[in-house]
Amino acid sequence: MARMPIIAGNWKMNKSPAESVAFVRQLAPKLAAYGEVERVVAPTFLAMTAVASALQDSPVKVAAQDAHWQAEGAYTSQVSADMLQPYVEYVIIGHSERRAYLAESDESVNRKAKAILAADLQPIIAVGESLAQYEAGETVPFVRSQVIAALDGITTGDLARIVIAYEPIWAIGSGKSASGELADEIIRTALRDTIAELHGDGAAETVRIQYGGSVKPGNMEEFMSQPNIDGALVGGASLDADDFAALVEIAARVKGS
Ligand code: PGA
Repeated sequence: MARMPIIAGNWKMNKSPAESVAFVRQLAPKLAAYGEVERVVAPTFLAMTAVASALQDSPVKVAAQDAHWQAEGAYTSQVSADMLQPYVEYVIIGHSERRAYLAESDESVNRKAKAILAADLQPIIAVGESLAQYEAGETVPFVRSQVIAALDGITTGDLARIVIAYEPIWAIGSGKSASGELADEIIRTALRDTIAELHGDGAAETVRIQYGGSVKPGNMEEFMSQPNIDGALVGGASLDADDFAALVEIAARVKGS
């Protein structure tokens, strides 16, 4: 079964609500033609409702950049998956910036993944190793441990609703991307093989896995040509409508051929 490519733009802490709406009004028509690729934007919480409403009649979907695992309660500053439910289809969790600066742990990622699935949304779970781990040759065991922890207690049936983003931390925002071949090899060994062990070959073949880390129009084709890479989680290049549209066009062309 062919896996549908998914390109998600992670805007991080960029764009005010007004800027976000103006941006998606400009972006949506540029993405209209590529029905064979899932197209997703992840604005800040503050812009979420405005962006969702601006994209109501568009095939472009909305993601949140995080969600709390509880439905409601005394968790100052947090937003729950249940609250996001009317506005988004995806929630990015476990991003390395949250792991590094905001105490995100494997355990919280796992709790969030379960809450997101229970709210009928789909998690995009980000994993990836640091430069020190990469240089020490620890990439595969480390990423594998992140995947095992994130998926703990999740059923094989729910795996089809999960997207994993492999993002080597040393490639994020650095202009240094992994090579397509290296990313594909790590995704195969640390991610698909691990999922096959846990949930069987069928699940490993079904789950969609993105690459992330300095993806740009100039290197997109290299990543999309890899058999184990089903799309991209994009930071910097997703803030420019022409660049993001170019990424979607390349995914549609390379994966469709
Ligand atoms: P980048 O960010 O494309 O700017 O490297 C990727 C990400 O953090 O998801």
